[in-house]
Amino acid sequence: MSRTDNGQFDFVVVSNRLPVDRVVADDGTETWKTSPGGLVTALEPVMRSADGAWVGWAGKPDLDLEPFDNDGITLVPVRLSEGEVERYYEGFSNDTLWPLYHDVIAPPRYHREWWETYVRVNARFADVAASVSTHGATVWIQDYHLQLVPRMLRAARPDVTIGFFNHIPFPPYGIYSQLPWRTQIIDGLLGADVIGFQRAGDARNFLRAVRRLVGYQTTATGVRIPAEGERRERTVVAKAYPISIDTASFEELARRPEIQERARQIRRDLGDPRTVMLGVDRLDYTKGIGHRLKAFGELLSDGAISTEDAVLVQVASPSRERVETYRALRDEIELTVGRINGDFGSISRQAINYLHHGYPREEMVALYLAADIMLVTALRDGMNLVAKEYVAARYDEDGVLVLSEFAGAADELRSALLVNPHDIDGLKATILRAMAMPAAERRRRMRALRRRVRENDVQQWSSTFLRELSESRRSSDQG
Ligand code: G6P
Repeated sequence: MSRTDNGQFDFVVVSNRLPVDRVVADDGTETWKTSPGGLVTALEPVMRSADGAWVGWAGKPDLDLEPFDNDGITLVPVRLSEGEVERYYEGFSNDTLWPLYHDVIAPPRYHREWWETYVRVNARFADVAASVSTHGATVWIQDYHLQLVPRMLRAARPDVTIGFFNHIPFPPYGIYSQLPWRTQIIDGLLGADVIGFQRAGDARNFLRAVRRLVGYQTTATGVRIPAEGERRERTVVAKAYPISIDTASFEELARRPEIQERARQIRRDLGDPRTVMLGVDRLDYTKGIGHRLKAFGELLSDGAISTEDAVLVQVASPSRERVETYRALRDEIELTVGRINGDFGSISRQAINYLHHGYPREEMVALYLAADIMLVTALRDGMNLVAKEYVAARYDEDGVLVLSEFAGAADELRSALLVNPHDIDGLKATILRAMAMPAAERRRRMRALRRRVRENDVQQWSSTFLRELSESRRSSDQG
């Protein structure tokens, strides 16, 4: 992979967000801070090892920024106006597509002006991607914000190889078909050479939507797009490539003595309870934080556990705070935390330590080491990289992962304690089981989990995807 002198690159990643957000302090000083979410966690190490460009939005409206280097990665900012942030990002991406693709846990809102802005902004991302790509470059587009970019880019630049990866679930047809622009989105995606999904079930849902909406023939792993006019027949690969993390770097942090000391300090600060439970999520209604709090609160009120036995640390990092559903969720979660702490806390001990912040990776790893039980109770989640991070950090082969079967990670992490978070009694019983689990069983399960996250780390994920992308292009060129 390489770059040319005129600012073009052989390898280009395109995502809504850049890996860093512009932050302006009260006194006007400007800095950059790591962006939230799993997409950035996964792609950063991939970009570091490729001399490519990353096209995306810098996280604030109306910023005019030239391409720049950040920590060894070339970033190419795309400008969004205030109104575009409202209609394309907060509106269509996060108040239409996000709830629709996550099983309509919250009601999706359909607004034609949001869609029109989505189309316009997707065209802008496609233009910028086209302008920074060399002839024959590989362009890898990420996530639900940019589903029209593959087709737009192919129209402008038939020479480039186009990959698309969907980081969130792809919903069953009965849900997807609500979308007024369902056919345009399918057409947009089919501009890619390879479309990647988190789970095999997501790829199947997509292939069914293709059959129903555009009538193309599908195979188990792809779509045959018939010849039309000048255009030859071509095949689009559509299958699962479960994403992962930079496993070795989490383990390396966990082995550092200062991080282990920090983990011990955290336990001391919590009052040395027998069991520390941990939840780490963006504050999002898909994460099942309320279900987790309900189960924990009921265990306390039943008398099955006490704050001497167990405390819960809940890190809920701020997210999409201008979208009403997210504001309402924050109020609801904070009310519940306040109630549980009011009922069961004492001067010396809180039942729940609730932290509405993001933390640097070092602190997260210390928390993972301090936690006897990790609770991942998402109602629907593309993958959930926090589950994999916990496992990667536990080089001591201890700790219990309680994992929702509705998180993509459940397909791979079969040795976790799998739960249905809607079943509060089941969740309570699983938490008690995790608390009582003998050390030998903890070790056996954690070993099996660790084998999996070592085998499929993020380098493995990206190299598999990119290899299949270049093979698919070669075979369609020969076709
Ligand atoms: C999820 C999405 C990402 C997104 C991240 C953070 O992981 O798949 O595309 O970047 O959440 O959300 P935000 O809206 O802050 O970018």
